[in-house]
Amino acid sequence: MSIRAMIVGTGSAIPEKVLTNQDFEKMIDTSDEWIVTRTGIKERHIASKGMNPSTLAIEASRRALEMAGIKPEELDLIISTTVFPDQPLPSTATFIQMGLGAMNAAGFDMVAACSGFLYGLTNAEQFILTGKYKKVLLVSSEILSRVTDYEDRGSCILFGDGAGAVVLAPTNEDRGILQSIIHLDGNYIDLLYVLAPGNIYRYDDPKIKEQGLNFIKLKGKEIFKIATRCMESVSREVLQKANISIDEVDLFIPHQANQRISLAVAERLKFPLKKVYSNIERVGNTSSASIPIALDEAVRAGKIHQRDLVLFAAFGGGVVWAGALVRW
Ligand code: ACO
Repeated sequence: MSIRAMIVGTGSAIPEKVLTNQDFEKMIDTSDEWIVTRTGIKERHIASKGMNPSTLAIEASRRALEMAGIKPEELDLIISTTVFPDQPLPSTATFIQMGLGAMNAAGFDMVAACSGFLYGLTNAEQFILTGKYKKVLLVSSEILSRVTDYEDRGSCILFGDGAGAVVLAPTNEDRGILQSIIHLDGNYIDLLYVLAPGNIYRYDDPKIKEQGLNFIKLKGKEIFKIATRCMESVSREVLQKANISIDEVDLFIPHQANQRISLAVAERLKFPLKKVYSNIERVGNTSSASIPIALDEAVRAGKIHQRDLVLFAAFGGGVVWAGALVRW
């Protein structure tokens, strides 16, 4: 039997502070009814001052390591995914290493927007399959509230903060990651982006503040259509390559971007809606953290059993999309 990479622990961390639709009704021209109907979101969690992506990542990682029964110093590698890191240099993985005391691990950050977790999973899988590393921590942590324009009602109602982590290790059993696929298409760059600060608009450029260039810009309607199409196609691709039919899948965990997107993808796949995991009502869209937070919740709630087939699909700015199939 060949080696596979297997998830041996999951963890998550969500800030306590809650921002509800009722709060938004006082801030912008919107209503609870509009937000719930269009997105499925009722509330999202917001990081407090002084909290960084690494703060949440460390908390989520500790829980994942505890479940895996692995000590931080046993880790070989830390892959951190975040759209907005603690600081430009060094990597957020560095702060995570220090916070955990994972002093034998190499580490790096990866950016693949809302598909970051599945890109990270594919990466972690390669290190394990080649035999290069045995114990890999993959942690996705996002504080989107810091780059959300709370005057833009078309986007601000979507985003929340949080982190999710998994620990991966090799297995000889017929379990683990059966298939993982990643895609990128830069033709759609202008649908979802943050312009600054960076090399094009340096941090001291007055345009950043004047034009809000440091906020997420989102063409929601266009993204909605492409996200639905790409998440459906990558799900089919993953299943086909793994030679598994959709009827065999026990749970579908899509990126929690919009409940309508998740349900539309499931409908196109002819997959039972009751087997689609959703926490968007309570958590909102937490970008790359959304799948591992949902996965951790599902695992801890006993919704995933040994040998269950779990399908994942994600989509984000770039545009970037990815899928994976795991036998638990
Ligand atoms: N409250 C009330 N009305 C609103 C709000 C609001 N918060 N936001 C927009 N509207 C209005 C618009 O102004 C528009 O009014 P008009 O017809 O008078 O011009 C009307 O509602 C419809 O607007 P649409 O943008 O067409 O609304 P839509 O149904 O597309 O919903 C939404 C917008 C929720 C952003 C949706 O398009 C969406 O979820 N898109 C996908 C986002 C996404 O998937 N992101 C995933 C990748 S990004 C990531 O995960 C980080």
